Amino acid sequence: MMRYVSKVSEWHLGFRKLNLCSMYATSCAKFSEDLPKDNPVSDMLLDSFGRLHTYLRISLTERCNLRCQYCMPAEGVELTPGPQLLSQNEIVRLANLFVSSGVDKIRLTGGEPTIRKDIEDICLQLSNLKGLKTLAMTTNGITLARKLPKLKECGLSSVNISLDTLVPAKFEFMTRRKGHERVLESINAAINVGYNPVKVNCVVMRGFNDDEICDFVELTREKPINIRFIEFMPFDGNVWNVKKLVPYSEMLDRVVKRFPGLKRLQDHPTDTAKNFKNSTSS
Ligand SMILES: C[S@@+](CC[C@H](N)C(=O)[O-])C[C@H]1O[C@@H](n2cnc3c(N)ncnc32)[C@H](O)[C@@H]1O
Repeated sequence: MMRYVSKVSEWHLGFRKLNLCSMYATSCAKFSEDLPKDNPVSDMLLDSFGRLHTYLRISLTERCNLRCQYCMPAEGVELTPGPQLLSQNEIVRLANLFVSSGVDKIRLTGGEPTIRKDIEDICLQLSNLKGLKTLAMTTNGITLARKLPKLKECGLSSVNISLDTLVPAKFEFMTRRKGHERVLESINAAINVGYNPVKVNCVVMRGFNDDEICDFVELTREKPINIRFIEFMPFDGNVWNVKKLVPYSEMLDRVVKRFPGLKRLQDHPTDTAKNFKNSTSS
C-alpha cells in the first residue's frame, strides 16, 4: 500500500518538562459519532469543532544518531539539561492521564526514540495502560533491528521506519552519517518479526529522491510495506525552498504513469494520509 501524508494530526507531548504546556492538537482524529459507546471519553479530548483527539505523540528525546539535512543542523541541537527531561515515570504518568481520558493510540518519536536506554521499559509500561489499543514508534532504524524482538515483546504494536532513498551514497549525503544498510536490515527485521504492514516514511525532495518514488512503490509489491510519501516541510534553518517541494499531484502523476492499476482506497474523513493500493501486475 502507498500513502501520501500531508500533515500530522495528533497530540504532541514534548520530552522537556517545560514543554508540558505546549501539548497541542493540530487536526482531528475522530468525529464525535465515532466515540466508543462502552468507554466514555473526557471533554478534554474534544475540540471546539466537535472533533475528538485520541492520538498522542510523545517525543522521548531530542538526541538523534543521524543529522538529516532537512531536520537537524550538522552540529546537532543544544541539549536540554537532564533534570528538565521527562523521566520514565513522568512519561508513563502523563500518558496514563491521557489514556484514561480516552486516548487510544500513542506514537513514540524524537529525536530518535531508540536512543533512550529505557525504551523497552517505557514500551512495556505504556503498552500495559488499560484502554491503549496501539503503541507505535517512528524511528530512523539505525539501531532498531537488534532491539526489535524485545520491543515487540514489550508491546510495541506498530513501526514506522524513515528512509528517504534506496541509494547508499545519497543516504550518507542526506543524513551526514553512514547506516543505509542498517536501516534496510531493520525494515527486513520488522517484517520478519511480524509487523504488517511495516510503514516506511519517505520525505520527497525535488532533485534528491523524486526520481525514486516509483522504486519505493515497487518495494510494496513483494513485501508487506506501506510506503508513506511525506511533503518536505520548512523548519528553522533546514534550507527549505518551494522548488524542492514535490506536490501531491505531481507525486501521484508519476506513480500512475508507471502503475496504471493504482487505486485510491476509502479513507476515513479524518485521515491525514491519502491511501492507495497498487494492483498493477509486473
Ligand atoms: C523527526 S523524525 C523523528 C523520529 C526518528 N528519528 C525518525 O527519523 O523517524 C520523524 C519523521 O519526521 C520526518 N521529517 C523530519 N523533518 C522533516 C521535514 N522537514 N519535512 C518533512 N518530514 C520531516 C522524518 O523523515 C521522519 O519520518
